[in-house]
Amino acid sequence: MVTNSATSVVTIERFIIEQERLHPHATGDLSSVLYDLALAAKMIASKVRMAGIADVLGETDHENVQGEVQQKLDVISNEILVKALDHGGRLCCMASEEEPDLIPIPDNFNTGPYALLFDPLDGSSNIDVNVPVGTIFSIVRKVSPGSRGEMMDLLQPGLAQVAAGYVIYGSSTMMVYTTGQGAHGFTLDPSIGEFLLSHPNIRTPAHGKFLSVNHSYEAIWNEPVKALMRQYRGLEGKREPMNIRYVGSLVADFHRNLLAGGVFCYPANTRTPRGKLRLLYEANPLAFIVEQAGGRAITGSQRIMEVVPNDLHQRTPLYIGSRDDVDLAERVLAKQAAGAAA
Ligand code: AHG
Ligand code: MN
Ligand code: MN
Repeated sequence: MVTNSATSVVTIERFIIEQERLHPHATGDLSSVLYDLALAAKMIASKVRMAGIADVLGETDHENVQGEVQQKLDVISNEILVKALDHGGRLCCMASEEEPDLIPIPDNFNTGPYALLFDPLDGSSNIDVNVPVGTIFSIVRKVSPGSRGEMMDLLQPGLAQVAAGYVIYGSSTMMVYTTGQGAHGFTLDPSIGEFLLSHPNIRTPAHGKFLSVNHSYEAIWNEPVKALMRQYRGLEGKREPMNIRYVGSLVADFHRNLLAGGVFCYPANTRTPRGKLRLLYEANPLAFIVEQAGGRAITGSQRIMEVVPNDLHQRTPLYIGSRDDVDLAERVLAKQAAGAAA
């Protein structure tokens, strides 16, 4: 049999169409949103890759709703996503880490049956030092009456997601997404400008090699969290010590752990008592991906995707990655919390 490598190439567009055919009632709306996200990812990738040359490095002189100084690339990436997705007629509204409120679809464009939430550039403090950054997105079905999107469309639990994914602008640019039929990775071939299927059906190892946590907060963690980290590091219990890898970009830490096995922890601490990471456009989409790959994602006491949100930018503690490692977190945090409550 002739196996011409050119024909065995599966572009993301071809893969999206083949996945759509698994759903006989599919309208093509979700496929269209995923195409547009892939296009936006290529546009952001070209900006990120040029960051050192074009004048896109550094900070703007204003803060976002999180009270964080916006990097120029945060703002540019946000605009690229809004402009790539606002006119396709598939969305009823959007939400972004960089915008305080719901982003409506302009009146002169049609609306559609989905809502999109995203972190346009994750790990942006790393841009100026050329450390990988990413984009994270989450897609839910419109649930409000009428054609225009409302806040209730955005404030849905992670279990309501119909698709989720991320892009990592690392040594290569990869897009990983799920529509509930497994998690699949595509690597951008810059010579042809196409995302090509490189990691079909990603399965994350049940037990991880890597622990990703910012230990500088150890003094302001509670006792259960300190006990958990001692177990991960082999200082207590019977476990082999895990290798510590912490990039400071959630997408980069998550992606390495997804492929190689590991756990990312961002516990609550006295400075961020509800955690730092945002539920709707950081924790939920990555939780969908990791569960599709056989892993888990919890707040410490609850499955991330079961949390019912009440605020667009609400934060959550996050323990996400290899199943056995997240199971340990759940046991230690629950046991110690029960002990504390008794
Ligand atoms: P963002 O750049 O979108 O605000 O996200 C930054 C997040 C996440 O990417 C990373 O894991 C975390 O902030 C790092 O926080 P610390 O510096 O407190 O460890
Ligand atoms: Mn982020
Ligand atoms: Mn961000």
